[in-house]
Amino acid sequence: MERKTIYNPDSKESLNDRRVFGGNSDGMINFTRMKYLWALNLWDTMEANTWFPREVQMTADAKDYKFLTPAEKRMYDLVLSQLIFMDSLQTNNLMDNINPYITAPEINACLSRQSYEEANHSKSYAVMVESISDNTDLIYDMWKTDIKLREKNTYIAEVYKNLSGEIDDTKIVLALFANQILEGLYFYAGFAAIYALGKSGKMLGSSQMIRFIQRDEVTHLLLFQNMINSVRKERPELFTEELEIEVRAMFRKAVELEASWGSYITQGQILGFTDAIIKQYIEYLADRRLEAVGYKPEYNVKHPIPWVDGYASFNDQRTNFFEGNVVNYSKGSIDFDDF
Ligand SMILES: [Fe+2]
Ligand SMILES: [Fe+2]
Repeated sequence: MERKTIYNPDSKESLNDRRVFGGNSDGMINFTRMKYLWALNLWDTMEANTWFPREVQMTADAKDYKFLTPAEKRMYDLVLSQLIFMDSLQTNNLMDNINPYITAPEINACLSRQSYEEANHSKSYAVMVESISDNTDLIYDMWKTDIKLREKNTYIAEVYKNLSGEIDDTKIVLALFANQILEGLYFYAGFAAIYALGKSGKMLGSSQMIRFIQRDEVTHLLLFQNMINSVRKERPELFTEELEIEVRAMFRKAVELEASWGSYITQGQILGFTDAIIKQYIEYLADRRLEAVGYKPEYNVKHPIPWVDGYASFNDQRTNFFEGNVVNYSKGSIDFDDF
């Protein structure tokens, strides 16, 4: 498949003929005339979610960090290090591997906003790392010394690599699923780990930062789920039994990887997290993601730690994380039903 033509004045493509990929649009980002209205809704939500990492108060975290147990410290460092990798990867992956093949200008706009947000997440990790450590390289370089971290990063990067290069229709659909999995599964053990610290009253600035990040990730997840669902309508012939088998295998592998990562970072030392709970949580998330794109759930398990969702929500009045003027930037919301 060819990369899209960026400026395409000879295009005769009608709005109705516009395609998520494989189309021939004129390339104009025209927010007054779009086919995919969900893209406009997402854009508006992303815009309302705008936030600035520097404005999250981290001074208390700098003190808290010194008093974390060795197990908590290890977990915190590993989580940050892994998140740093994923947002770095995703910033580039979106622009270099996905966007060149997406032929709906309104979706290109959302992808470019998403790519900026992933870089903004990298900025937030820098704020966190700088506030807790004088030697920032220790966390940034952990992948060089921690074999398990290196393995997780390498596996995820390999999946992306295999889905880039020579692209065909099936490959691009699989790449959409790979992104759905990254946005919807691979961040979640790490997020829950930071929330677990927050729940016990530690590292509240970090929790707040992660909530902002997670709110962005929800829109990223919706972006890919909406792309998948639109392609399912446009190109139903691509959604074969073989594709479903492959997608389920990708999900099972991702659940295995994320659950084992969750066990590795917590090592049975973090209150409220057993290996079984972590695994069930990731399985539960995988089921929701599968259902969101029209597939039956794989695991059929209940949410084992519903407090995480309440904790991650900006609407939860019981938690009190708003400090300084951060509250000014929390006007966006996340609601899966809106799309
Ligand atoms: Fe991100
Ligand atoms: Fe993301």
